[in-house]
Amino acid sequence: MSQQRKKLVVGNWKLHGRLADNAVLLDAVAQAASRLPEQVKVGVCVPCPYLAQTQTLLAGSVVGWGSQDVSAHLQGAYTGEVAAEMVAEFGATFAIVGHSERRAYHRESADLVAIKAGRALTAGLTPIVCVGETLEQREAGTTEQVVGVQLDEVLARLSLEEAARIVVAYEPVWAIGTGKSATAAEAQAVHAFLRKLLVARGAEVGGVSVLYGGSVKPDNAEELFRQPDIDGGLIGGASLKAQDFLAICNAAAATL
Ligand code: PGA
Repeated sequence: MSQQRKKLVVGNWKLHGRLADNAVLLDAVAQAASRLPEQVKVGVCVPCPYLAQTQTLLAGSVVGWGSQDVSAHLQGAYTGEVAAEMVAEFGATFAIVGHSERRAYHRESADLVAIKAGRALTAGLTPIVCVGETLEQREAGTTEQVVGVQLDEVLARLSLEEAARIVVAYEPVWAIGTGKSATAAEAQAVHAFLRKLLVARGAEVGGVSVLYGGSVKPDNAEELFRQPDIDGGLIGGASLKAQDFLAICNAAAATL
């Protein structure tokens, strides 16, 4: 099945970037991405103030861009929020929603994440819906239950047509920014479970991409991306170093 799905590698810059550094990085990514096979798609999710710069520098490139969150609201008196429509106005095509850092530090509930995914879709963005268990939950044997509820909450709020347009990212919380990636086998097991949940909603939804995220690096990317149910990666720390990010994109190409 993974043979039919394209590989997708998306950088999540988190709270990093400055105009001058971004320009160098975006230029390197755009150039390298132009040499990748067409079946490897690349994206970067930048802090919102840099959407305009990203749009300017990536215009005409094969690289997509987006935000790391969107508001659950359309507009109104919500100080500090950024609406999906605003992000889309900058030519963006992606919006990460439900990242574990937002669930943990901003108390985002599964229900709120589901609303955000819907907002992104309505604005024409592809929501990258993050799910993942903590170390405690993994050790308690509840990984499938946790990620299953996180995914089901989102799917329950979407029509089948909408659900077919999302991307899912499995990001075990204990692997994010720790240097301790899930093994390919550990990740594949959870991806296979998520795939089963998606397929249960029908063939269209069953075909959505499921990315792995959590300490993906040049030296573990290819093995992860070779797993049958891993369709690419959501890359944090390594997406800030052009060389590493490009090596990860090349690892995706090597699996085709
Ligand atoms: P990491 O982050 O690659 O730095 O572990 C991944 C993510 O949080 O999306």
